[in-house]
Amino acid sequence: MKAIIHKKYGPPNVASLAEVSKPQPNDEELLLKVYASTVNRTDSGFRSAEYFVSRFFSGLLKPKNQILGCEFSGVVESIGKNVLGFKIGDKVFGYNDKTFGGHAEYATISYKAAVAVAPKNISLHDAAAITEGAHYALNIIRVAKVKPGQNVLVYGATGAIGSSAVQLLNYFGANINAVCDTKNVELVKTLGATKVIDYQQSDFTKFKDTYDFVFDAVGKTSFGACKPLLNKNGIYISTELGKNGQNIFLALKHWALKSRKKVLFPIPPDLSKEDIGFLKDLVENGMFKPVIDSYRNLDDIVEIYTYVDSGQKVGNVVLEILN
Ligand SMILES: NC(=O)c1ccc[n+]([C@@H]2O[C@H](COP(=O)([O-])OP(=O)(O)OC[C@H]3O[C@@H](n4cnc5c(N)ncnc54)[C@H](OP(=O)(O)O)[C@@H]3O)[C@@H](O)[C@H]2O)c1
Repeated sequence: MKAIIHKKYGPPNVASLAEVSKPQPNDEELLLKVYASTVNRTDSGFRSAEYFVSRFFSGLLKPKNQILGCEFSGVVESIGKNVLGFKIGDKVFGYNDKTFGGHAEYATISYKAAVAVAPKNISLHDAAAITEGAHYALNIIRVAKVKPGQNVLVYGATGAIGSSAVQLLNYFGANINAVCDTKNVELVKTLGATKVIDYQQSDFTKFKDTYDFVFDAVGKTSFGACKPLLNKNGIYISTELGKNGQNIFLALKHWALKSRKKVLFPIPPDLSKEDIGFLKDLVENGMFKPVIDSYRNLDDIVEIYTYVDSGQKVGNVVLEILN
């Protein structure tokens, strides 16, 4: 089968299209004919191993799993004898950031993992883009314990995480101000933001609005800059470590001192079976729709990774594997 492989860590050109053997499902696994995957910042992070810590999961010297692609959608081609809840021909989508494998014509996944029958109201290709940004956003929103009516700022509302965060916060009943660039102001309004601040026109820290929670979805702000905007018990969470890893140190300091205004730095748990069902229901109820930047194919993988690494994608880049 065709797959994108990387035999070493590094820049986009360590990834290439290759012919590899088709995976065989064990007794608890589904074998999927993959329709689509995405190329996202999780794939980029594990490909580059920019943060050395990722190697403790993916292999110290070289990648244990040569095929990346944590998001996938496809059709069940065969099932192991102990599989429950799925049958051959089911259209499914899911998330696998343990062994990856979505950047290939076939992939295997345990029936107990984050895989579910795909929502019927969006294409199977788009279903591949439901999980990655939403997984991080959902975890962060839960840690911040956002309640209906609270004021939240989402900085970087056009990324995979930011665009998911705005939609999920809207579902949870928050009042959302969002920051993005000029060309995406209208898009972000449609996601559910009450007020959209164009960072190319205005500095969001100069507005009078205050927040119960500031969610920096692209890791470009700092607690110092956002602290004056936080309400008495306001929370700041960023998807990045911050300058010199400050978000980790501040989180520890604020926890130790029981500070009122504080940084939290949550480590995401695995995406659960319940969560994937929750996301599917949101999509089917029209409360969540993955934002699609573009549809690409396997031949362009180096160019795609170069673009994703640039931090400029709007939502998700879908990798079409079967048209
Ligand atoms: N290491 C990992 O495993 C991992 C996994 C997932 C995510 N992350 C991190 O989480 C962050 C978000 O990930 P993502 O996938 O959601 O990002 P993404 O999709 O790559 O986000 C890109 C978007 O952010 C916008 N943006 C860039 N600079 C901005 C700024 N200064 N102000 C406002 N918007 C800005 C870009 O639009 P414009 O350029 O037009 O403004 C673009 O639409 C990234 O820093 C990523 O590294 C890490």
